Amino acid sequence: MQRLNIDLGERGYDILLGSGLLDRIGELVSQVLQPSRIVLVTHPSLFQLYGDKVLAGFKKQGWATDIIEVPEGETSKSLQQADIIYDRLLGFNCDRKSVLIALGGGVIGDLTGFVAATYQRGIPFVQVPTTLLSQVDSSVGGKTAVNHPKGKNMIGAFYQPRLVIADLDTLQTLPQKEFRAGLAEVIKYGVISDASLFDYLENNVEEILQLDNECLAHIIKTSCAIKAEVVEKDELESHYRMILNFGHTLGHAIEALTGYSRFIHGEAVAIGMIYAAKLSQQSGKCEEGVPNQICELVKKCGLPSQWPDLDPQEVIESLYHDKKTMNHKIKFILVKKIGSVGIIEDMPEADILKMLLSKA
Ligand code: NAD
Ligand code: GLY
Repeated sequence: MQRLNIDLGERGYDILLGSGLLDRIGELVSQVLQPSRIVLVTHPSLFQLYGDKVLAGFKKQGWATDIIEVPEGETSKSLQQADIIYDRLLGFNCDRKSVLIALGGGVIGDLTGFVAATYQRGIPFVQVPTTLLSQVDSSVGGKTAVNHPKGKNMIGAFYQPRLVIADLDTLQTLPQKEFRAGLAEVIKYGVISDASLFDYLENNVEEILQLDNECLAHIIKTSCAIKAEVVEKDELESHYRMILNFGHTLGHAIEALTGYSRFIHGEAVAIGMIYAAKLSQQSGKCEEGVPNQICELVKKCGLPSQWPDLDPQEVIESLYHDKKTMNHKIKFILVKKIGSVGIIEDMPEADILKMLLSKA
């Protein structure tokens, strides 16, 4: 098992990464928390796959455990679903020493984290991420949220988990499309901060896609270390943390304008990264060849690389709804070279439009 600490003072915690960790979940949680009771929040399908193992671990510790099953999909990240969970927690007589366990991907993690942040003004929670995306990104760093009909992640809180337990074995049951989408976030870490991670992905993509454990451990640990470093410097995203959004500005526009149905998040981010790199090149900020390098790696990972047929003006409109946009200024993360990015405070609309028109 590998252990990585995220140093946020009294809000700091460990990320545990390895094989067979679900078998040890009770013991691992007991090293940091002494719960009055445990509530496991997960999807029915994941409970079928992993419920027995997790419950056995808690039973060994003698902890009373309740289960809340949440329907799959982004629509579960809602205030209505949070309300259902509050109701269940009150029904179980959960107090402030009750611990929520989020077993699942980013949907379960974001929703459970939001409930943990708000139930009785905050109770401890543990992230047990089971998708590649959640192991490298959403389980770490304390962004929790539900969606509002007017926008994704609009209601939320920065609230750190007390522990992250990433069991590599869970990736064996993850659908391949979801796994590839998670790889987009790993590519992102290479682009924003670590050229050697980018090289590693280029050289080991076949082994990674075959879920070789050593390769998985390497890319997940390296990604989490980069995220930890960024979050330690700027936990509340006053500025620097925005670099984690590379590729997401255009990616979110693609998701929104295709009705959140044509692409899953990581797929839209993959396309967004390629076109953010093209914009970087057009702005004279970026080394020759970078957009092509990103595009080739995206394709090798089996992710989409083609810009979808979208009205450029609607794309610009959508960028104004980005959470980074302030005072009507579109912030943008541009790549300088693989491993290094910069934040542009006021990206001219005309430059984005030019890129969108020239790529068509
Ligand atoms: P997800 O949670 O919807 O999981 C995708 C699908 O995979 C689901 O159907 C789920 O049931 C299934 N699944 C999960 N683990 C599995 C496993 N081991 N075996 C079989 N099936 C499994 O999707 P996601 O990509 O993990 O998360 C997306 C969400 O994460 C979005 O809501 C996004 O906004 C959020 N997010 C949050 C942050 C953050 O910092 N908090 C960062 C990135 C994304
Ligand atoms: N997923 C981006 C962040 O945590 O800031």
